[in-house]
Amino acid sequence: MIENIAVVGATGAVGSIVLELLEERNFPFKSIKFLASKRSAGKSLTFKGELHVIEELSPNAFQDIDLVIASTPDEVSLEFTPWAVERGAIVIDESGAHRMMEHVPLVVPEVNPEAIENHQGIIASPNCSTTQMVVAMKPIYDAVGISRVVVSTYQAPSGAGAAGEQELFDGTQSHMEGKSFDYQAFAHPIAFNLIPQIGSEKFEGYTSEEMKMVFETRKIFGDETIQICPTCVRVPVVNCHSESILLETKSALEVDAARELFRNFEGITLQDDLASQSYPMPIDANKKDDVFVGRLRKDISGPNGLAFWCVSDNLRKGAATNAVQIAELLVNRNATCGT
Ligand SMILES: NC(=O)c1ccc[n+]([C@@H]2O[C@H](COP(=O)([O-])OP(=O)(O)OC[C@H]3O[C@@H](n4cnc5c(N)ncnc54)[C@H](OP(=O)(O)O)[C@@H]3O)[C@@H](O)[C@H]2O)c1
Repeated sequence: MIENIAVVGATGAVGSIVLELLEERNFPFKSIKFLASKRSAGKSLTFKGELHVIEELSPNAFQDIDLVIASTPDEVSLEFTPWAVERGAIVIDESGAHRMMEHVPLVVPEVNPEAIENHQGIIASPNCSTTQMVVAMKPIYDAVGISRVVVSTYQAPSGAGAAGEQELFDGTQSHMEGKSFDYQAFAHPIAFNLIPQIGSEKFEGYTSEEMKMVFETRKIFGDETIQICPTCVRVPVVNCHSESILLETKSALEVDAARELFRNFEGITLQDDLASQSYPMPIDANKKDDVFVGRLRKDISGPNGLAFWCVSDNLRKGAATNAVQIAELLVNRNATCGT
């Protein structure tokens, strides 16, 4: 039974959206508590019209908790997760700490909901750029198979947390006033610039963010044969990640057929009418839960290629929505088991 829940990292960019979603989707619970760092402990936040005092993360905070939805830095997750699991809670972890651990399911409900069955107390939610891509891949993968993916991302500063988002505003303002700005969340100015590096170097010139897209995608599909060539770029768009995706399919797929597959897939909104200048853009995807797909084209450079553009709110489907959907899967599964 899931009755008592804790939101860890409730003050963060993702955590604050988790709160909005729990309220919006009327997520069922008996009690709820909000945890963050010592910096926030004792402050209050509003949830469902009531003030709640934020507690500091500690082992005892998880006493009698059944479900944890957590959005903290990796190292914080590694520290507190055993405290919660030892006390009988299931942890849905947004961080990268557990995603690639063999015993931890990495779940996107539209793609591999069945994977939650194998959890041993922790269920991981993928990196934001992976999540929207695998949702967009799923209908095509199921219909004709996918052998190769070439993807370039255009990632918003909100993907680097509340501090990243704030630095875009502050850096832009300083730039407009002709002042210098000391960026902490980024290695270079993000205002009026693009940064073709997210994360540190991981493998043969690819960054950690890029290799997450490779490893996580293969794990979610349970298919180690998918070849993926990613380039991840930070762009000065406040929120929502965009991706230019080229899929090489195992057998031929007409663009019209792909359009129908996207149109009929729950979780995807197709917006694909170049003649009327209709295609996904961050400004429209902001605060929405779907993955938006458009600019569908046949690859004119080779066989069996489908090119398209994909946009999603990284704080919602890329993080908070995915975690809350996993929580809903757990609740529904419990309800079914009980009948
Ligand atoms: N942003 C995205 O688009 C996105 C997408 C997918 C996954 N994620 C992952 O989600 C996680 C959270 O990201 P975010 O963007 O929400 O970051 P954020 O805005 O920096 O928020 C971090 C949260 O963690 C808490 N925290 C930090 N240190 C802590 C500590 N020592 N003890 C307890 N709580 C601590 C913070 O509490 P205080 O306010 O008290 O410091 C805050 O609530 C990260 O692992 C990130 O990789 C983010």
